[in-house]
Amino acid sequence: MAGSRERPSPAARDNRWKLVETTLRRHGHRAHSLIEALHAAQEAYGYLDTDVLGRLAGDLRLPLSKVYGVATFYNFFSLEPQGEHSCVICTGTACYIKGAGAIMAALEADGLKAGETSADGQVSVLTARCFGSCGLAPAAVMDGDVLGRLTPDDVLGRVRQWRTHDA
Ligand code: FES
Repeated sequence: MAGSRERPSPAARDNRWKLVETTLRRHGHRAHSLIEALHAAQEAYGYLDTDVLGRLAGDLRLPLSKVYGVATFYNFFSLEPQGEHSCVICTGTACYIKGAGAIMAALEADGLKAGETSADGQVSVLTARCFGSCGLAPAAVMDGDVLGRLTPDDVLGRVRQWRTHDA
């Protein structure tokens, strides 16, 4: 595979968390900014997992039950990718300029649309605004691995591997 690969290090995750922190800071880390914070987190990560919800609860000094309750009440928040595997494509400016559009087009030509899960339940394709790894553009997070300098073939290759191995 031509794309260079980074292990899902805490630093890589922190890059994305920094984007959420910008929103938290703008709202003074106040509890009433929960919805904005959830939007920012979903844009950065593609969906909201327990780890992210816990961090938001801690930062906003809210009970996790409250954060979880709000995240599940609104159907535009997604708590997990629906498929066995997740492919989150960054569509931020740097990644877009470096070819994220071509990656999305290749996935779509293969029947995989952003925001949807393949009919076989194997792969959910999501988009996120920026992972904070712009130096790796175009970047994607595939099953938690931050991958960079991807070509459409790199992404399609991994997706097809998931679908044939897990079928
Ligand atoms: S624009 Fe894609 S990682 Fe920043």
